[in-house]
Amino acid sequence: MVTPNHAGVFLWLMVTAVPPLAADDVMRQGEYLFRAAGCANCHSDEKNKGAPLAGGRALETPFGTFYSPNITPDPETGIGRWSEADFVRALREGLDDEGNHLYPAFPYASYTQLTDADLHAIKIYLFNQKPMRQANKQHELPWYLRSRASLRIWKMLFFNPGPFQPQPDQSVAWNRGAYLATAIAHCGECHTPRNILGGFKQSQRFAGNPDGVDGAKVPNITPDKKTGIGKWSQSDLVEYLETGAMPDGDYAGDAMAEVIDNSLSHLTKDDRKSIAIYVMSLPSVESVAHEHKPGQKKPKTKNDYE
Ligand code: HEC
Ligand code: HEC
Repeated sequence: MVTPNHAGVFLWLMVTAVPPLAADDVMRQGEYLFRAAGCANCHSDEKNKGAPLAGGRALETPFGTFYSPNITPDPETGIGRWSEADFVRALREGLDDEGNHLYPAFPYASYTQLTDADLHAIKIYLFNQKPMRQANKQHELPWYLRSRASLRIWKMLFFNPGPFQPQPDQSVAWNRGAYLATAIAHCGECHTPRNILGGFKQSQRFAGNPDGVDGAKVPNITPDKKTGIGKWSQSDLVEYLETGAMPDGDYAGDAMAEVIDNSLSHLTKDDRKSIAIYVMSLPSVESVAHEHKPGQKKPKTKNDYE
């Protein structure tokens, strides 16, 4: 019998474990997910007029500069020789085709939550894009991070492999929102602060990151009234995710404008609403980032080591 508690999971299974889709539908689903996941944002060097998905975009992080690799199906310089299993393993486990650990600047700590069917659709879509010949650039990292072997320890400490497990006591919309926000649109990759080893501070999920990519300060999006978005209504948030318009009349800037333009504005209305439902249900966390004045040394708290 399906009790109300299990109805969420039951319905979730109905939407994710559907019978195999027709080829066209798989392509369409793959395109939708690929956009929502922002793969092209990082893997195309738009600023320098780089070819789509051919990599080379610099990502400046507190750990060094990473250059996204070529993920077009070019067999020499891209991932054209990868099998579907190789591809799935990269997103689910953070390993390349030779079994080397990948750096978490590639948000596989989020993509690991993707379902098998969604990974399959993304793979089919990606491998139908135009191959581009462009060699990968070496990351610029301090010596102690150059060995990929050290990432084994990082994974042991901070990596929880997926796929996503729906929560039976929550609604279908909430579970869809959780899946979109954590697995696909990876809000936490930017909005959750990291500790000194680059792991997420779990006690401050979505509470803002003072050291975001490219030096951006990323705001707290938990429902905290003082430092988060506790004063926003659900429809304020849905509107923001579609158009970037904020309740105070301002507009989203920086990386968030890119996320809205390239990803979130292309979602269905229902999907944006689900994300808002999930985000507004998060525990309120008062962020410390706003107390940090420019020029002040960042205080070390116990959270830095969590
Ligand atoms: C935030 C930026 C970012 C986003 C978003 C992103 N990637 Fe990446 N990706 C990277 C970086 C950086 C690397 C290199 C990691 C390394 O060298 O260990 C990478 C590596 C990869 C690799 C391994 C390629 C190789 O040659 O080893 C694949 C495959 C990949 N990404 C696919 C994707 C797909 C598919 C998506 C969307 C679902 C995606 N990426 C989204 C930054 C990103
Ligand atoms: C690539 C990094 C990145 C990702 C991914 C990202 N954000 Fe953001 N977000 C930002 C930045 C940077 C800002 C600050 C923008 C500004 O200065 O206008 C921001 C601002 C916001 C704001 C406005 C908060 C305020 O008080 O100004 C909301 C709400 C928000 N993001 C929600 C989300 C949600 C929900 C997701 C996932 C669906 C998400 N973001 C994914 C980087 C990101």
